Order: sequence, then structure tokens, then C-alpha cells
Amino acid sequence: MKKVLITGAAGFLGSHLCDRFIKEGYHVVAMDNFITGDKKNIEHLVGTKNFEFVAHDVTNFIELRGSLDYILHFASPASPIDYLKIPIQTLKVGALGTHNLLGLAKAKNARILIASTSEIYGDPLVHPQTEDYYGNVNTIGPRGVYDEAKRFQEAITMAYNRFHGLETRIVRIFNTYGPRMRLNDGRVIPAFMGQALRGEDLTVFGDGSQTRSFCYVDDQIEGIYRLLLSDYEYPVNIGNPHEITIKDFAEEIIKLTGTNQKIVYKDLPVNDPLQRQPDISLAKKILNWEPKVDRAEGMKITYNYFKSLPQEELHKSEHKNFKEHIKE
Ligand SMILES: NC(=O)c1ccc[n+]([C@@H]2O[C@H](COP(=O)([O-])OP(=O)(O)OC[C@H]3O[C@@H](n4cnc5c(N)ncnc54)[C@H](O)[C@@H]3O)[C@@H](O)[C@H]2O)c1
Repeated sequence: MKKVLITGAAGFLGSHLCDRFIKEGYHVVAMDNFITGDKKNIEHLVGTKNFEFVAHDVTNFIELRGSLDYILHFASPASPIDYLKIPIQTLKVGALGTHNLLGLAKAKNARILIASTSEIYGDPLVHPQTEDYYGNVNTIGPRGVYDEAKRFQEAITMAYNRFHGLETRIVRIFNTYGPRMRLNDGRVIPAFMGQALRGEDLTVFGDGSQTRSFCYVDDQIEGIYRLLLSDYEYPVNIGNPHEITIKDFAEEIIKLTGTNQKIVYKDLPVNDPLQRQPDISLAKKILNWEPKVDRAEGMKITYNYFKSLPQEELHKSEHKNFKEHIKE
């Protein structure tokens, strides 16, 4: 039986990856320190044969007994609200955490896939973004802590590939959504859905003409799974290329939720990208992958998930564990 280590396993994507690898018959070692994740995302797997959980901060040295075939490094705060509140931890998990995991992969002779992001393109001057675009990032802007951690992560991963012959994979994830996102993580989908559920107006930053494209989680996990098992070593974009303006998207949410909220406009945050759309030609070619779930269907499933959460979840303003981690 193949054994896989998944870091960030109690988070949104990590927990869906755990489900997928268990379903595929792997032995899953899940690792997390709960800084932005939640036990309840993996609770259903506890007690499952072939699933074990290790509570650990990956910025500290990682020791695991036995063999390991694959590592998927997904530990990192991922939403602007999170990484602006815990900037040092964000830089550390991208730099020190990735270094520790590459070292572990080398020691175990395991293949490692790291979770990179469309944020490495910054506020892109090329549209849609292809993998050969170098990006337009402000190193010292507030988002720099995340963008540069991820750019460093890609650089050190390629260094281990070239200098140690390590088998590496890099996925550049574009906005992904679905059940197990946090309502208070500040990303646009939970933000709009949370506002709709609380009966508040929907906040659009700027004039709403900025565009985004949203990939449903099942499509994202399929792309990551195929990339891990492929023999392609360079970064691959995985995301949904169907673009929509934030204003049109807010209107879609109002229609979907059947609420009568208005849209209110606020100033655009610093360095918020104006356009984001993946070019997925490479993924189509080498992985024979493209998204299958349309936005209306994915949004309905996601909204039903948020609706099913206990009322108190609707009113939490930040992650419950930030205070204990904040001084690190
Ligand atoms: N969701 C997206 O749309 C998206 C887009 C681009 C990139 N990504 C990347 O995918 C990965 C997962 O994102 P997500 O949306 O699931 O975020 P998430 O916040 O839901 O999950 C991240 C998980 O990592 C854990 N973690 C953070 N620092 C850690 C540390 N030092 N040690 C151990 N665990 C730690 C958190 O507790 C959490 O469970 C991240 O690397 C993120 O950068 C996600």
C-alpha cells in the first residue's frame, strides 16, 4: 500500500485531499497545527483504517517513521484575512516548512508536490496567465508575505529537483471553493454567502469590474491528483478559466440565495489583483484535465454547506486559534 503525507490536512483543500487518497486506497498520514484549519474537517476519517493524524507545526523539524511514497505540502494560510493577521507564520511555513518537507522527501526518496498559487503572478500584466509568465508582485506590499513565501517555495523546490534529483511537482492553484471553506476567511465566496445568510448587504471592493474565476473543489482535487501521478516537473496551473466580474458574481449570489440584499461598494484593498484567469492549456495537454463542475452547481452545493453550519459560525470574525499562535 502506498503511503502519502498530507500537510495542511485539517484545512479546506488538505481535508478533501485526505478523502481522495483514502478513497484511492492509500495510507494517509495527515499533519496540521490547526492555525487556520479545523478538526471537524477530518473528524469523519478518524478511526478509518489507513488514516493517521499527526499534530505538528511543519516549520519545526519533521520526523516520521517508516517509508513514504508521496508528500503533498498544503500547509499555509491561504486567504488574505489570514495571512495579513499571521504574516510571519505565513512566511515561515512557505520557507522553513517547505525546506523541512523537501528534506523529508529526500530522506525517504518520496515524490513531493507543493501547493503554489496564482498569487505568484501578482497583479498580472499578462492575461490570461500562462505558466511562463514571471508575474508582477510587490515584494513589500501587505500581500508580499504570501506571494513571496510561495515564490520562494517554488524556487527551493526546483533547487532540490535540480541539485538533489528529487521528484517534485508544483501546482499553481487558482481560486477554489466548496464545502469546508471557513465563513470568516475573507475570501469572496464565503464572504458573500455569509453576508446573505446574516441578512447583510453584499460588500464589493472597488467598482466591482475586477474579475475572478472560481474552480470547484472536486475539479481542483482531480487536477492535483493527476499532476502528482504525472511525470511533469514544472509548474502547472489548475483552475477554472470562466471569468466573471465581482459585481456580476454578487448579483448571481443574491439570485442563488433568494435574498433581497443590496450591493454596497468599498475601497479596493492595496495590491488587490484586477484580473485573474488561468490559462489551462498545459493541464489539458499533459494531464488531460479540465474543470467539469459549472458555477451554478458548485455554488449551490457550497451554499447548502454554509446553510447547514451552526448559527454561531455565522458570527465569528476570525479563526478561533489565531490568539494562541499570534505571538510565535
Ligand atoms: N483555496 C484556494 O483557493 C487556494 C488557492 C491557491 C493556493 N492555495 C494553497 O493551498 C493550500 C491549502 O489552502 P486552503 O485553502 O486549504 O487553506 P486552509 O487555511 O483551509 O488550510 C491550510 C491548512 O494548513 C495548516 N497549517 C498552516 N500552517 C501550518 C504549519 N506551520 N504547520 C502545520 N499546518 C499548518 C492550517 O492549520 C490549515 O489546516 C495552501 O498552501 C494555499 O496556499 C489554495
